[in-house]
Amino acid sequence: MDDFSFSAFETVLRRHARAVETVLDRLLSPALCDGEIARPPRLLAAMRHGVLNGGKRLRPLLVMESAALFDVRQETALPVAASLECVHCYSLVHDDLPAMDDDDLRRGQPTVHKAFDEATAILAGDALLTFAFDVLSGEDSGLSASAQVQLVRLLARAAGLGGMAGGQMLDLAAEHTPQGESEIITLQAMKTGALLRFACEAGAVAANATAEDRARLAEFGTAIGLAFQLADDVLDVTETSDILGKTAGKDIASGKATLVAFHGVDWARRQLDGLIEQANDVLAPFGQKAETLRQSAYFIARRQS
Ligand code: IPE
Ligand code: IPE
Ligand code: MG
Ligand code: MG
Ligand code: MG
Repeated sequence: MDDFSFSAFETVLRRHARAVETVLDRLLSPALCDGEIARPPRLLAAMRHGVLNGGKRLRPLLVMESAALFDVRQETALPVAASLECVHCYSLVHDDLPAMDDDDLRRGQPTVHKAFDEATAILAGDALLTFAFDVLSGEDSGLSASAQVQLVRLLARAAGLGGMAGGQMLDLAAEHTPQGESEIITLQAMKTGALLRFACEAGAVAANATAEDRARLAEFGTAIGLAFQLADDVLDVTETSDILGKTAGKDIASGKATLVAFHGVDWARRQLDGLIEQANDVLAPFGQKAETLRQSAYFIARRQS
């Protein structure tokens, strides 16, 4: 994609980010929801630190743009995007814990367990994960009941045993056991790909789209999911902590099983080119309407942080 403009894409990304952050800021306010007895201020503050601290908000963009393909209203798609971002941010809070990747820096700030303490970070993660399903199952969502139940189940599966949490388990185990290429691809498809695939499929599910269209979006999500972690692993090697807002050089230091460790940065960059092409080909039937999604594949592969 020779005409890709980072600044034009980032303008769209910021617009979606502002919209989802407004929703998240409101949902994570001290105001009680129906049935809640209290919102302990320290836990709420830790959740806010984990969520409202300057992420790129790529997953919300993917939800909003996949929903726009099928003319799902913005107010219907936004809670889906917000719930996915809660799951993603929870995964980062726990990923950074001393028992996992043991990181002090996230999005240019102290990680939640550094800014608060370990127990609070564990609970903030727990509360964000469950909060996501509270938000996703909300009344007056504008979703059909069947679409809402399907989204709840898909997000649960993307986050859980056969998805992100399962992938994190494999990722940690792989620090001590040499892995082959296909094992690394599987663990990355789970730890990172599953939530990104959900992001892309969500719009089609929300719209009760055809199985064919849903499969197209899932295929796009699978390709950009692989690309996303491959790019993350390249950046870990090539960028500084200042640019990344998280500690660079961690993967080699902790013996992570990555395709970059396996094949090197040049190979990874060539792979990324192929994945962009593959992702974009899948979207051809959607024509111009899928332009921002196409650009997101390019951004994911070529981003600098
Ligand atoms: C980082 O995700 C974790 C991975 C899955 C590699 P992002 O790069 O999307 O992190 P934020 O949300 O922008 O901070
Ligand atoms: C994390 O992968 C994937 C998650 C499920 C959070 P990494 O461990 O490589 O993510 P970073 O580099 O810490 O953001
Ligand atoms: Mg990790
Ligand atoms: Mg990590
Ligand atoms: Mg990483």
